[in-house]
Amino acid sequence: MKLLLNIYIRAFIRLLKSPPHFRVVLNYVKYLWARKMGLEVVSHTPTNVVIYTTKNCNLNCDFCFIGDDLNPNNGGEFELMYDQYLKITENEFFKNALRVGLLGGEPFIARDIFEILEDLNKRRKVVTVVTNSTLLKGSKLERFINCAPDILGLSLYESNWADVERVFLAMQKKSIVWIQTILEADGLNEIYRSLDFCVSIGCKNIRFSNYYPTYGKGMEKVIFHDDQSFVELKKVITKQYGNKLNIDWPAPVSRELKSKSCQQPISYVHLDNQGAIGACFMRPPNESQYGNIFEKDSWNGARHKELRSYMNSTGSDCDPDCRYCENLSEDLYKI
Ligand SMILES: C[S@@+](CC[C@H](N)C(=O)[O-])C[C@H]1O[C@@H](n2cnc3c(N)ncnc32)[C@H](O)[C@@H]1O
Ligand code: SF4
Ligand code: SF4
Repeated sequence: MKLLLNIYIRAFIRLLKSPPHFRVVLNYVKYLWARKMGLEVVSHTPTNVVIYTTKNCNLNCDFCFIGDDLNPNNGGEFELMYDQYLKITENEFFKNALRVGLLGGEPFIARDIFEILEDLNKRRKVVTVVTNSTLLKGSKLERFINCAPDILGLSLYESNWADVERVFLAMQKKSIVWIQTILEADGLNEIYRSLDFCVSIGCKNIRFSNYYPTYGKGMEKVIFHDDQSFVELKKVITKQYGNKLNIDWPAPVSRELKSKSCQQPISYVHLDNQGAIGACFMRPPNESQYGNIFEKDSWNGARHKELRSYMNSTGSDCDPDCRYCENLSEDLYKI
């Protein structure tokens, strides 16, 4: 929560300097209304739009939620070109969004990413990027410094600590930077290495995610709410590091589903370069399931309404892909 507050306050101050368009504010109010009323058919568009600049990645993390959609045979067809980005900017999904993010795959594989960022920074949106940092070096990193996003997430994996350190040191004065990494139930003590790394490089913001078992794999890594080792660890770490770092903790998954509070089906989409939609931050773009922003009223299609209906229902039923997602019973974004 401390981390989120820190980021939201700084993002808000940044918005004061360059306020969003009126249509963005109106869209946000409509979102709040849909949230309050539990609407399944909505009249707004997502407040968060995250565009994949590519489906390709230079790493191949076996847990990656993008799953079989990562590095497709026709990967080149999904690289976001500047003209495709401009076409997306003319769509109401883009125009109404408060936050626009760039993601992938590894976003810096896309050749036009800097041109896109230069333009995006002028459009009065909260701009975010999440990267594995590995490709940001030399002239690429220099260019990135000059088109820094408002918020930058650096993902920490076993193999990329030097990359994260280099990018953090270069970007810390330009963006609100946080380091994000997955905390696994069967490797809780790894947390100390990540925390000490953050302290050593001077990064105050760290976000730990729960492990999402893509295709049901790695259930032993998921932190459940009755995991006493996790509860104890949280207490110890808060005492030891609470003054030095803003730590955002994983939301433990419930063994028995009693309530659902994920707001993603009314607030968030992933998009690919052609406008195909993915319904939340754990679902890559998939046109056959979720439609395309260039189709009329696509966000009120059957799958979107079904997800909203699950979230509004009081019983223990949910979409199978949601069951072990940390966002299901604790909305991580809060806004
Ligand atoms: C899909 S990656 C895309 C951006 C970039 N390639 C990166 O790794 O930062 C975005 C974030 O999703 C996280 N992620 C991927 N698969 C996950 C999973 N199964 N459980 C939890 N987080 C996951 C990654 O750790 C990363 O921080
Ligand atoms: S670096 Fe990111 S996109 Fe690439 S495989 Fe790992 S989590 Fe997935
Ligand atoms: S609970 Fe997770 S998988 Fe389900 S809609 Fe929310 S973010 Fe997506």
